[in-house]
Amino acid sequence: MPSENSLKETERGQLRLSRRVLGVSPSATLAITAKANELKAQGINVLSLSAGEPDFDTPEIIRRAAIDAIQKGVTRYTPAAGTLELRKAIANKFKTDQGLTYSPEQIIVSCGAKHSLFNVLYALVDDGDEVLIPAPYWLSYPEMVRLLNGACVFLDTDASTEFKLTPGILGKKLTPKSKVLVLNSPSNPTGAVYSERELLALVEVLKKHPQVWVLSDEIYEKLIFDGKKHISIASLDPSIAARTVIVNGHSKAFAMTGWRLGYAAFPDLKLAKAVGSFQSHSTSNPTSFAQSGGVAALEKPEIAAEVGKMCREFEKRRNYFYEKLSKMPLLKPFCPQGAFYMFVDVSGTGMDSIALTQAWLDEIHVAVVPGQPFGNNRYVRLSFACSEKTLEEAVKRIGGWCEKRKAAKS
Ligand SMILES: Cc1ncc(COP(=O)(O)O)c(C=O)c1O
Repeated sequence: MPSENSLKETERGQLRLSRRVLGVSPSATLAITAKANELKAQGINVLSLSAGEPDFDTPEIIRRAAIDAIQKGVTRYTPAAGTLELRKAIANKFKTDQGLTYSPEQIIVSCGAKHSLFNVLYALVDDGDEVLIPAPYWLSYPEMVRLLNGACVFLDTDASTEFKLTPGILGKKLTPKSKVLVLNSPSNPTGAVYSERELLALVEVLKKHPQVWVLSDEIYEKLIFDGKKHISIASLDPSIAARTVIVNGHSKAFAMTGWRLGYAAFPDLKLAKAVGSFQSHSTSNPTSFAQSGGVAALEKPEIAAEVGKMCREFEKRRNYFYEKLSKMPLLKPFCPQGAFYMFVDVSGTGMDSIALTQAWLDEIHVAVVPGQPFGNNRYVRLSFACSEKTLEEAVKRIGGWCEKRKAAKS
């Protein structure tokens, strides 16, 4: 095989990327990550507050279950939609946690919740169909919709409604072309959590638009603070449940990001079958022995205590970080009620999210994620999925930077 360079221009294959792929934005966070890695390689102590995953290890019982599965030879293909055992465990989870009844045939297990979300959108969205996305949003939703030639309709929210969609905002943006509304509670990047009352208000609007499906991303369900309870919109009204697909997964609740286990629960067998057959022609089943670990996560009684411990640890860090950031000049943090992100208004610094992210990385070696790709350029996202020591040091560096900036501005 000749090397690429030894070929003449005319002999090289002509690469014409598909229109779909060309439409996808490169990640705005990649430049920051690359820069942070460059600084780290130079031996600089960069504090990373950009993680999108728990900093805990997967609980031992889950790891053991997967190792045992490999030893027992659970190393072959499974049904494309996931093992019956795992789908039953997921159906039980929905019954216990949300009071929702699904048969195993209504559950499809995929390679992470991201994969589940993509599959659901793939099955629902045709060219030009409108997908309503409350902003700020998790940055993959718009990219998925664009890949599918759908039309993103952003529903802007701000701190005045705790970054939650209101019936007024929703009602204004619904049209006959609206196909899917994406909901994400607790939210990435804001940590906002919808109450039952807030969801019921949205239900009333949705009832007037029966063609609209709800895609409810509940991946942060177990990471919730202040004694609040996660509510799924599907549990509030049967007519809405009949057009809601819930997506959840093991990544965040059980610190299993690398295992790639996500799932969707469908109200409609036709839709579940469509997704199952699409998946059978793309990835086939999620990894066999990861699914065995996934069953242990849902069924071993000791796991709930471990999840509770992780959640309390996140809440402790949230309290510390929020208190410190609130006292800093020029910054306005939003107090998250779930997940592990602090969304901070940095407009008081006179910089937008991209400029500020660059400045913090260059000047104080703190890596955070700009809000711009999440649909809000006034904010940055700081993850507290890191050690207390890292948070304390970050507080010192960011606090010092803000004092200096304030002095320079006045
Ligand atoms: C809101 C949200 N949904 C879905 C996912 C995907 O999770 P995974 O694919 O790891 O299961 C993430 C991951 O960061 C997320 O933040």
